[in-house]
Amino acid sequence: MVSSNDAIAKKWWKEAVVYQVYPRSFMDSDGDGIGDLKGIISKLDYIKSLGVNVIWLNPIYSSPNDDNGYDVSDYRNIMKDFGTMADFDDLLKGMHQRGLKLVMDLVVNHSSDEHEWFKQSRSSRNSPYRNYYHWWNAEDGKPPYRYSLFDVNHDAWKYDSLTNAYYLHYFSRKQPDLNWENPKLRQEVYGIMKFWADKGIDGFRLDAFQFAAKDTTWPMFPKGFEKNFVPYYAMQGNLHGYLQEMNREVLSKYDVMSVAEGSGSTFEDGHNLVDARRRELNMAYAFDAVDLAKPEGYSVLKFKQTFTKWDSAFVDDGWLSIFLANHDQARLVNRYGNDSPEFRSVSAKMLMTFLMTMRGTPYYYYGDELGMTNAGFTKIEDYRDVQTLNEYQRQKSIGGDLPAYLKRIGFESRDNGRTPFQWNTKANGGFSTGTPWINANPNYKTINAAAQEKDANSTLNYFRKAVKLRKANEALIYGKYTLLDEDNPDVYVYTRELNGKKLLVLLNFRAKASAYNIGMDISKASVLLSNYAKPSASGTLQPYEAVVYEVK
Ligand code: GLC
Repeated sequence: MVSSNDAIAKKWWKEAVVYQVYPRSFMDSDGDGIGDLKGIISKLDYIKSLGVNVIWLNPIYSSPNDDNGYDVSDYRNIMKDFGTMADFDDLLKGMHQRGLKLVMDLVVNHSSDEHEWFKQSRSSRNSPYRNYYHWWNAEDGKPPYRYSLFDVNHDAWKYDSLTNAYYLHYFSRKQPDLNWENPKLRQEVYGIMKFWADKGIDGFRLDAFQFAAKDTTWPMFPKGFEKNFVPYYAMQGNLHGYLQEMNREVLSKYDVMSVAEGSGSTFEDGHNLVDARRRELNMAYAFDAVDLAKPEGYSVLKFKQTFTKWDSAFVDDGWLSIFLANHDQARLVNRYGNDSPEFRSVSAKMLMTFLMTMRGTPYYYYGDELGMTNAGFTKIEDYRDVQTLNEYQRQKSIGGDLPAYLKRIGFESRDNGRTPFQWNTKANGGFSTGTPWINANPNYKTINAAAQEKDANSTLNYFRKAVKLRKANEALIYGKYTLLDEDNPDVYVYTRELNGKKLLVLLNFRAKASAYNIGMDISKASVLLSNYAKPSASGTLQPYEAVVYEVK
């Protein structure tokens, strides 16, 4: 029986800190300008030194790289750019030797159009693979409009003359959606999962999985639905049934963790995915907070409310992921902190303090431990991301305001968070001896791991302290979360409590001194972590100040 208070049932994946490696941009071992598995192997000691214990790798399977590996053409092979299966085996071994676990991305809402399944599927209406994908015969007229995130026309149906039919692609044309209603397809996916689990990997991140099940009666959606398409696309049909089947057939048979990208649009959706009694997944991640950041800033109140609301849904059972940045976002410090020379480091440290003291498993994106910043690209030629480039084409074709678009992507393009890791002051930040697939941020000369290693007060060394603090305090993992000074528009204050131990977290989200009021005397409390040499006296905080106290 699963305890009704599942949120405090101990599990390794709840105690983990996940470090996300974008393999293309982490370390290039052979000078071709593309990061690779051998490169990651050469940096395992660095990753270990951060104190994290799980690595999530973005897709490393064979792929024509329309969407940097999120278009898989062979799920049982390694992308040529990244190396070989032997490299993978070495990587996994090297990780396990160091006590690091590996979570792989599982991209099965769609495959690449170059996957053998799709080649067969499109070859004939009678192909045994036809039903691996979603087709609409053209003699039935135009299919009901579906929005595509990456398509140049945002149209998710692509006409294919070979069989006079349209296929569905929620992402790019080269990412046709798989048909989860087909039990054969589902068995193929479980087979793939077993293949990797048998190799000894420790978990799966289910990419875009909330979209996997569709309403295949293809109803018309109301006009403008694409502005908020999640309620129409996510958690449809038998999604939970598929997850329960996946759990029965694969997940329950291995000691692996599972995390879904997305959590629908309601608490109930999110909760149902991860309520242990339902035997689906371990964690989901919600986007509400991640979507708050805008070029003009964001409401700290809303930020607090969002995290508090989501926490409340998981008090008794289920578990959340805590994150603010990944490969689909621009850099953390630009979006939620401050990238000016004066505040970059201190605001990055404040955000680290936040992420390491919330309930839920923290996910940390490579380079954010250094406070890496947005790319600073000004020309479309600098960009590589299919979403960014296709939208540029679309803007061009509809006579959109291109300078305004360039400005927008300067803040929000995913490529901002995909520039090479900044190891040192050598060319390309020491990432590659060749020409990187995407330009390094020239600020590697000042923001880099080598320099930060030498500085006890660096962002990097603060990250290590914050991770250590979390690991040393179960209250930060399992403890109850209580928001204080609720209506404060600048300062985020909360406590975490477990078995009589109480930690107080104070975070100033502003570039100015800010006051707070919690009616608690902290003059005798002990400081466990602080991003200033001397924490402020009770009642105020310096710009972006973060302090964690133990209160008696
Ligand atoms: C997910 C991934 C994103 C990718 C998309 C399509 O959102 O995180 O990077 O482009 O799915 O696979």
